[in-house]
Amino acid sequence: RILILDFGSQYTQLIARRVREVGVYSEIYPWDIDEESIRNFNAKGIILSGGPESAMLYDAPVAPQIVFDLGLPVLGICYGMQTMAQQLGGEVVSSNQREFGYAKVRARGHTELLRDIQDEVNEEGHGLLDVWMSHGDKVNAMPEGFKLMASSPNAPIAGMADEDRRFYGIQFHPEVTHTEKGGEILSRFVQGICGCEALWNPKNIIADSIERVREQVGDDEVILGLSGGVDSSVVAALLHEAIGDQLTCVFVDTGLLRLNEGDQVMDTFAEHMGVKVIRVNASERYFSALEGVTDPEAKRKIIGNLFIEIFDEESAKLTSAKWLAQGTIYPDVIESAGSKTGKAHVIKSHHNVGGLPDDMKLELVEPLRELFKDEVRAIGVELGLPRKMVFRHPFPGPGLGVRILGEVKEEYADLLRQADHIFMEELDRHDLYDKTSQAFAVFLPVKSVGVMGDGRRYDWVIALRAVETIDFMTARWARLPYEFLELMSLRIINEVDGISRVTYDISGKPPATIEWE
Ligand code: XMP
Repeated sequence: RILILDFGSQYTQLIARRVREVGVYSEIYPWDIDEESIRNFNAKGIILSGGPESAMLYDAPVAPQIVFDLGLPVLGICYGMQTMAQQLGGEVVSSNQREFGYAKVRARGHTELLRDIQDEVNEEGHGLLDVWMSHGDKVNAMPEGFKLMASSPNAPIAGMADEDRRFYGIQFHPEVTHTEKGGEILSRFVQGICGCEALWNPKNIIADSIERVREQVGDDEVILGLSGGVDSSVVAALLHEAIGDQLTCVFVDTGLLRLNEGDQVMDTFAEHMGVKVIRVNASERYFSALEGVTDPEAKRKIIGNLFIEIFDEESAKLTSAKWLAQGTIYPDVIESAGSKTGKAHVIKSHHNVGGLPDDMKLELVEPLRELFKDEVRAIGVELGLPRKMVFRHPFPGPGLGVRILGEVKEEYADLLRQADHIFMEELDRHDLYDKTSQAFAVFLPVKSVGVMGDGRRYDWVIALRAVETIDFMTARWARLPYEFLELMSLRIINEVDGISRVTYDISGKPPATIEWE
């Protein structure tokens, strides 16, 4: 396994993902974690991430000394290289120009890390690498024992290596896909230099999780709130595999789900897999609790609290349950941990409907705690879940409650469901579903005029939203073809009785958000 020390770069999670993609387990810790934890992690190698700070500030974050004393290979990336240089006796200078974007670096193949890795060879016979740079400061003098490994006009010391100690530093970012050979470089480090074997794959992850769950819960019974989303679905499939009938899922049908979603969940889990699922049809309770409420935050609170109330009622009936399973995944863990200094992470406050009362006296079992979303999907497929479910776009916890603006009524939810379903069906048919990160319809409680045959009518408006994004923190509206949008408008207005107008949202995030609320 590989330990990654996080200095706050926006790319740190990518490092961990790339390392895992080559089959090696890695975990991220904040840079100021104590030495004992570093020793106990039992890494075969350490990677120091990039970061937003300047290594030249007197209180700049530094790697704990033990990183360099354990005799393990160390790879410093960007800031990680700079702090390594500075801590080992080299020098870092700030340059008045930030370098951000593509660069060509001359790579010296005499080092183990870059041997035979290049994108092209120039006229003089030197290997060149196309890389992604993002830095202000740079290393000006290497520490003793290091030799030059890469250079570029902007960063004469773009890479350095002390092969005796197996310390490597690179100024560019191998973890981003813009650096085409980045995966190869990281793989060379973790497999070639650190000697890690590629054992991290869906089959092994599943086998390992099953064993751990069995050990953790023994013969006890476990409850899981199943929402039909990717994470809770994978937890259900995994726990079913691990403990069979000891698992009971509670599925709350809030009336704010997508078309036929409730039936699909029951079909997949109860019918096909034989999982024990209690379906609670709570739509009437939801619609009456939401009656007359228009404030978005108030709506969210009502929806969230009602979920807790219902889940509580159901779990109270399952008196023998001792454990509560949750679909917490690794990014949630990293984001809520962060560095002690608080600089490293912007904390994402995610208001999932998963928030459950503290007084439930159930212990938590979270089998996906160490997995990234793509790993969760990969094991979902391996566990036999339908691809459609595993690769479905994210759906907010409060469901259609945030996609019906203003007061939530059953009538609106029904119209929205139909429109949304048509949108999804056509995206799928036109091979556009997987090309967008998230797409959905929104119900606008405004009446707009239309003509149908000879008559005028005043009906509701549907807005369509489709975005492309990597991390959902920023997003670009999807450039769906005009012909496609035209088809959407025709189908929705013709087929959904009560809708007279369809619009397409062309706002980016920021300044807009993905959901309309
Ligand atoms: P916004 O609208 O903030 O959405 O740009 C970013 C992403 O978060 C999803 N979202 C939620 N997910 N519970 C969730 O699990 C929620 O309450 C919630 N609100 C927004 C949204 O769908 C988008 O993917």
